[in-house]
Amino acid sequence: MPNIAVVGAQWGDEGKGKVVDLLSERFDVVARFQGGPNAGHTVAFDGKTYALHHVPSGVFRPDTRIVIGNGTVLDLTKLLEELDGLAEAGIDLAGRLYISDRAHVILPILKMLDALEESSAKAGDKIGTTLRGIGPTYQAKAARWGLRVGDLADPEHLEERIDRILSGPAGGRLAQAGQEMPTAAQLARDGHGQWKRLEQYVTDTAMRLNDWIDEGGSVLFEGAQGTLLDLDHGSYPFVTSSTTVAGGLCAGLGVAPTRVTGALGVFKAYGTRVGAGPMPSELIDDAAGDLIRERGHEYGTTTGRPRRCGWFDGVAARYANRINRFDAACITLLDVLDAFEEIRICTGYRLDGKPFEGFPASVSRAERLEPVYETHKGWNRDTTGVRKWEDLPAEAHAYLARLEEVIGTEVAMVGVGPDRVQSILRPGSWITRNVPDLI
Ligand code: IMP
Repeated sequence: MPNIAVVGAQWGDEGKGKVVDLLSERFDVVARFQGGPNAGHTVAFDGKTYALHHVPSGVFRPDTRIVIGNGTVLDLTKLLEELDGLAEAGIDLAGRLYISDRAHVILPILKMLDALEESSAKAGDKIGTTLRGIGPTYQAKAARWGLRVGDLADPEHLEERIDRILSGPAGGRLAQAGQEMPTAAQLARDGHGQWKRLEQYVTDTAMRLNDWIDEGGSVLFEGAQGTLLDLDHGSYPFVTSSTTVAGGLCAGLGVAPTRVTGALGVFKAYGTRVGAGPMPSELIDDAAGDLIRERGHEYGTTTGRPRRCGWFDGVAARYANRINRFDAACITLLDVLDAFEEIRICTGYRLDGKPFEGFPASVSRAERLEPVYETHKGWNRDTTGVRKWEDLPAEAHAYLARLEEVIGTEVAMVGVGPDRVQSILRPGSWITRNVPDLI
């Protein structure tokens, strides 16, 4: 059975949730391997829209098991709110939600630390994080004083651990800034209370996943953020603090690379980015950029911030394909380009007047890149009602064919609107060949 990764191939917000939601119908399990409440996945069907932050997008398929893996970081207050919201919407999670006992906990003080670091950073050094405590929690994990979900089971031991955290570097930094902190006793009481509500779902998810795969089950691995936000391969330091590329799923779930049978890259038909950092094809103070933002409703699901918009960056896309080695690409939000006479694709960069290959490691060089564009004729008509690949306008086919060339992989799916039904599968493509019976 297929075990396929679905990952973001740009700067996040590519519409992975919609792709996962569609594919999950044919998978037994959907598993998240990194990130936390910084993610915001939107899923729309039957006239309703749901915003998810921790919970994988497969949650709306009643027969699909959903896993929140060891590589994630969890804000338990927010996670419980999310579970309550799903329960109110009539989504039954009993016996099908599995949370790793090794996932790290975003303690309230780590969230405070995220806000403090961002507000005290000099203008050019601000990352523009989601302020959800993601960076400080992954820092705590790497520094080996973080708290894992399984640690919440024993209240006495928990208070001692938290006490050490409060008197360590994180507590010290907050105290120095004059911030009032909760006591260890309070944090331990809250954490243990949350554990009691979540205990029924908490398990060794690596063991479960490997058992299910042994039994012939199929798993969809759901990435969060995107390749250009990856801690190693993204536009460092303007990145998130986890491994967002397909390879990250192995460590983030305890599933060996030999068990992964494919990877899909999700790309918007144009480019967006939230937060600071280089974006060579950004359209700044530009009517086309504003039109993309308005037509694409390009405002963050998690923070509501307006997203930076630009043309499709083919160089960054090719770079993402090299790192993830996609079997196919899913191009979302194609309909946003319905209103354009001309559409551009960035096919090269120039640095200090000379052609530059690849994506530079140094942020100062990345910020000096100049995009080289080619221009394509727009189709200039509504595609939101198109349901079949062959019914897309000829100019849209030409645009997609060029994206295939610049990315270096086949386009297997196209999105023409937010609803589940507005996804067009390409007949005979990698997805239809590898995910049987997908309608
Ligand atoms: P953090 O993940 O909150 O630490 O934020 C680090 C960077 O990643 C910032 O530029 C955020 O805007 C960006 N980021 C984090 N999560 C997402 C996401 O889900 N979509 C898009 N950008 C994100």
